[in-house]
Amino acid sequence: MDVKTICVVGAGLMGQQIALLSALSGFKTYCADTSSEALEKAGKFADGWMSKQKAKGRLTDEQVDTAGRNLLFADNLEEAAKDADMVIEAAVENLAVKRGIFAQLDRIAPPHAILATNSSYLVSSKIADATVRPDKVLNMHFFNPALIMKTVEVVQGPHVSDETVETVIAVARAFGKQPAKVNKEIYGFLCNRIFSALTKEACYLLDMGIASVEDIDTAVKGAFGHPMGPFELLDMTGIDLEYNLGMERFRETGVLSDRPSPGLVERFGRGDYGRKTGRGFYEYGEK
Ligand SMILES: NC(=O)c1ccc[n+]([C@@H]2O[C@H](COP(=O)([O-])OP(=O)(O)OC[C@H]3O[C@@H](n4cnc5c(N)ncnc54)[C@H](O)[C@@H]3O)[C@@H](O)[C@H]2O)c1
Repeated sequence: MDVKTICVVGAGLMGQQIALLSALSGFKTYCADTSSEALEKAGKFADGWMSKQKAKGRLTDEQVDTAGRNLLFADNLEEAAKDADMVIEAAVENLAVKRGIFAQLDRIAPPHAILATNSSYLVSSKIADATVRPDKVLNMHFFNPALIMKTVEVVQGPHVSDETVETVIAVARAFGKQPAKVNKEIYGFLCNRIFSALTKEACYLLDMGIASVEDIDTAVKGAFGHPMGPFELLDMTGIDLEYNLGMERFRETGVLSDRPSPGLVERFGRGDYGRKTGRGFYEYGEK
């Protein structure tokens, strides 16, 4: 399928970047949000990001002008999705909200349009039945910062057609990304699962007194060439987020090893969430 027009739903942290990426990659792009404040911020973000890239010699005047013409903001979904060949939804991580958006999109977007969600954890089979085109509903998972990070996970749930997956992979490549095809739906897809396995083991080793926070981080960075150690990363992404995700997963699976580690629970209980509170696995002083 030939994708020319893309609609991005949600102009928050991820949506604003995905919309700009799409416009810079030559697609006519509509970015929709229910909040006019978010749309205004997204417009400023796009202008600011492109002028910085231009100043560094990474974008030409022509590229900036073309992307500026390609990128349109809309506060109503009707206008944003009515001509879309593909929609990428990046609204809040809430199943009821996403199902509502997909039901609306199903009514508005042309019948051939693919409806993708950038959800971090909600598999598309929980959303696809809100539409009458489940074969065209799938996960297309970007990583933050979406303008920079190369990986995009494209997940083929049991209801998704091969043609849909091929088209989304082609769009991801046109965005300059390296798509990873995930053949089956699984909680956390690939990268969040692998990240979680690494951090879980690091927490276990720490709880057992096998090595210190600093030594585990230094060892992982030095041995695998990771730019950050698991504890530095947990402090950055938030111990509260990791705790909530672990508990949610445990509630879903009932598997004891899915529970957050004792050291993580202890820090969560003290309100030591990482950088944002000034203390997590490391001390950061004032928040
Ligand atoms: N933040 C990350 O690092 C990250 C990484 C990968 C994937 N994701 C996923 O991307 C999605 C968006 O995350 P985010 O961090 O950009 O969130 P965010 O809170 O920054 O932005 C969400 C935006 O959605 C808008 N919104 C809410 N309801 C809407 C509706 N009905 N219609 C249109 N817009 C609506 C909000 O006004 C807000 O601007 C989530 O599903 C999240 O799981 C986030």
